[in-house]
Amino acid sequence: MKTRHTLPSGEWPTRAEAAASRLFSPITLGPITLAQRTWVPAMVPWRASADGEVTPQVLAWYRRFAEGRPGALVVEATGVRDVPSGPLLRIGADRFVPGLRRLVETVREASGGQTRLLIQIIDFLRIRRRPEKAKFFQRFLELTDRHREALSASDGDEGWLAASEHRVRERLTELEDSVLEGILNSRELEAYAFGARERVGDVEESHIRELPQVLPGIFGAAARRAREAGFDGVELHYAHAYTMASFLSRLNSRTDGYGGSREQRVRLPLEVYESVRRAVGSDWVVGARFLGDEVIDGGSRVDDACFFGVEFARARFDFLSLSKGGKFEDAKQPRVGEAAYPYTGPSGHECMPTVHMAAPGPFGRQAPLTAAIRRAVREAGFQTPVVIAGGICGFTQAEALIAEGAADIVAAARQSLADPDWFRKMQLGRGEEIRRCKFTNYCEALDQRHLEVTCQLWDRRPLVDPNELLSRDHKRRLVAPAWSDPQPSP
Ligand SMILES: Cc1cc2nc3c(=O)[nH]c(=O)nc-3n(C[C@H](O)[C@H](O)[C@H](O)COP(=O)(O)O)c2cc1C
Ligand code: SF4
Repeated sequence: MKTRHTLPSGEWPTRAEAAASRLFSPITLGPITLAQRTWVPAMVPWRASADGEVTPQVLAWYRRFAEGRPGALVVEATGVRDVPSGPLLRIGADRFVPGLRRLVETVREASGGQTRLLIQIIDFLRIRRRPEKAKFFQRFLELTDRHREALSASDGDEGWLAASEHRVRERLTELEDSVLEGILNSRELEAYAFGARERVGDVEESHIRELPQVLPGIFGAAARRAREAGFDGVELHYAHAYTMASFLSRLNSRTDGYGGSREQRVRLPLEVYESVRRAVGSDWVVGARFLGDEVIDGGSRVDDACFFGVEFARARFDFLSLSKGGKFEDAKQPRVGEAAYPYTGPSGHECMPTVHMAAPGPFGRQAPLTAAIRRAVREAGFQTPVVIAGGICGFTQAEALIAEGAADIVAAARQSLADPDWFRKMQLGRGEEIRRCKFTNYCEALDQRHLEVTCQLWDRRPLVDPNELLSRDHKRRLVAPAWSDPQPSP
């Protein structure tokens, strides 16, 4: 049954308790040490330029998180290819390095050098917006004899078999969806009702067939650029709805040695890792984010994730960051002109859980998954740190997750968005001043519409300062308001 879950205890530590806590103790991440086990995971804020470059708004976004001095901050999913992808950051060519270097310098300066900076690097396949019906049937549908035969069978008129293409397209445009369901195949129906979406199994397309040959080099070059820009490491994006997660998925039925069994599904992710390692060397952080459970019919489950976690640890990934769900397969139908968004269906709700989720609610919801994966990795003899995310917003809660072995590092996305200073406030014994996330996903709704992501809590105070950065509609603050009375760092 769905209820509105209440926030976990707001019992905050004194400064001394924080200093003695697990959360604020250091941890080694391959060649580096995090000063504390706090982590801001990747969040796309829709602030890059149309060419994927770092903008002043991007710098302001990361500066604000850095002021809270988390142990690690992960820059949003950044595209590894040199292809247009709207206002999403890119790292697919050397020309992106100077902008990214400015981002690194900004974070170093704002955190007093205390926050380690990683960048999440991603590849994704093409997804089209849901087309207008007429446009789909007039322009996009590849008309074949199969459509003519199905049309003829649907109304008993054999004339369709020889009718002009124009006439057939006109007729298809007129038909009700219930009739079209008997005429179009499942991929065509998806392209019509959701927008066409490429899959890693579309091996008849050469650019998809050749993914295993091209992706290791592309990821390797992107990681080399990240190192040149001065980042402390990369997080390979093997989670959610994107290319690498699709290779790991149980739904990956490629028969070229890169699909089917777990061993074959993990092959490309390992080859990408090896290429990245060759490009950056062994003295730089390389980790991955992947799914503890895909939460879709026929998708990977926690036993797959345990297997992948052990393989990644064996390969010497420096950390394993877990997420859950966030898939296209169960996404809601988008409106005409919009693209499907992988966080709208049941799997998406698991990825960014709200207070309206079914029991046990959103807070630390992924703990059973991360605990199982961490246990499997430890039992295989590896000490690779595991990062948990999902509804983490309290000190007692975070301490318990580490103490109980659910994770080694605690990531908070939305709580850090609501209050980027929240780790620092806890550490200074000023937890009462934390602005607590409501977990109702106003921010996620903005992300869904590709609007600049902000938090509803930032605008409780009226906008008066003319120097504050505002959203394009001039109604919202683009960064969290300053903490009015920060104390010197401990
Ligand atoms: C606005 C927004 C953008 C996000 N972008 C990314 C992303 O680029 N890469 C990623 O792996 N996860 C992304 N996430 C998921 C978060 O990193 C995190 O896993 C999720 O929000 C659950 O953690 P939380 O409960 O602490 O928010 C995003 C989440 C939000 C709210
Ligand atoms: S908009 Fe809502 S869910 Fe998002 S960070 Fe702010 S309070 Fe949390």
